[in-house]
Amino acid sequence: MIQTLVLDLLSTTVLLLNQDGGVEECNTAAQDLLGRSKRHIVGQMAISLFENDADVAQSIHLACMGVLQGRRQGAVLSRPGDHLEVSLTTMSLTQQPWAAIIEIKPIEHRLVVDRTQRLIDEINTQHALLSNLAHEVKNPLGGLRGAAQLLEAELPDQRLTEYTQVIISEADRLQALVDRLAVPQTQPREWESLNIHEVCDRVSALIEAEFASVKLTRDYDASIPNIRGDSQRLVQALLNVARNAAQELTSQPITVLPHIVIRTRVARRVTLRDRQHKLAVVVSVIDNGPGVPEALQDRIFHPLVTGREGGSGLGLSIAQDLVQQHGGVIEFDSRAQCTEFRMMLPLEQT
Ligand SMILES: Nc1ncnc2c1ncn2[C@@H]1O[C@H](COP(=O)(O)OP(=O)(O)OP(=O)(O)O)[C@@H](O)[C@H]1O
Ligand SMILES: [Mg+2]
Repeated sequence: MIQTLVLDLLSTTVLLLNQDGGVEECNTAAQDLLGRSKRHIVGQMAISLFENDADVAQSIHLACMGVLQGRRQGAVLSRPGDHLEVSLTTMSLTQQPWAAIIEIKPIEHRLVVDRTQRLIDEINTQHALLSNLAHEVKNPLGGLRGAAQLLEAELPDQRLTEYTQVIISEADRLQALVDRLAVPQTQPREWESLNIHEVCDRVSALIEAEFASVKLTRDYDASIPNIRGDSQRLVQALLNVARNAAQELTSQPITVLPHIVIRTRVARRVTLRDRQHKLAVVVSVIDNGPGVPEALQDRIFHPLVTGREGGSGLGLSIAQDLVQQHGGVIEFDSRAQCTEFRMMLPLEQT
């Protein structure tokens, strides 16, 4: 009974089989995935849950005979009214009341996770590269600026300071860029217990102050418990996301009232960065602007990718980096008049 309860905590679908290949036990995830109640799963032959497939039948047979150490394969699950492609792991059990176990994962889900992980790895590599570059640029830049200042002081003709001023102001602009690139790559040292709504309030206040014409609505789930994290970094991440929305809304001729919603919710059974979490906090920034341009959609989290005049293309890659340091991820969906960026953070952090 205890084992059955534990199985219900898993987000992976699990079926436990007897020696004949009949389902003896299944967890809640199995009922969700199969679209049937436990009463209609237990007692069925496991093979009948899948589309006709000799390889799957063989795996189940061998697993129930006690001779299959574990085999992963693709299969098609039959569900009332539709089919679903899944990845199947079948394995014999020893010293258990059941002969074999089947684990089922929807393929779609796995692909999304793999894609997110790949994206994050890519961004990490690019960021590390840019950070190193920023570091190398920093010192000569300081020298350049200092030399221009000295030169300015020595100039015989005041009119020539126009040129040194260009050097100084351009060096300052580059310096600001370089400072943004040098985001701390490490995990925050001291995490505090923080209320995510304080982060949202801070960001909302900053956006309201900077973009007076944008209406901002806060839609909070007040029951969200505290999370552990670095509030400065989370404010920075959310601000980068919210500022993009506000910039998009205010850069267009007004056709609709510019509106941003900052929404918080709890999500259950979420996979973030290849790890399953029972609970996650989702902070959404939703805007009714024109949407992320189609051509940029695959690349917006990459550094230096921008669709905005005067943009440096760093905001989202930095935000992704900061959220990632908290074990989370930022995702988005976008179409005209409805763009949603979701900052997802695991709730049970250590
Ligand atoms: N809410 C949004 N609606 C439409 N487009 C967006 C939105 N958020 C981001 N984008 C697009 O993604 C691009 C990348 O955003 P990112 O914040 O990384 O860089 P940036 O805003 O261009 O420059 P920076 O943030 O460094 O000043 C933006 O230039 C914009 O084209
Ligand atoms: Mg930005």
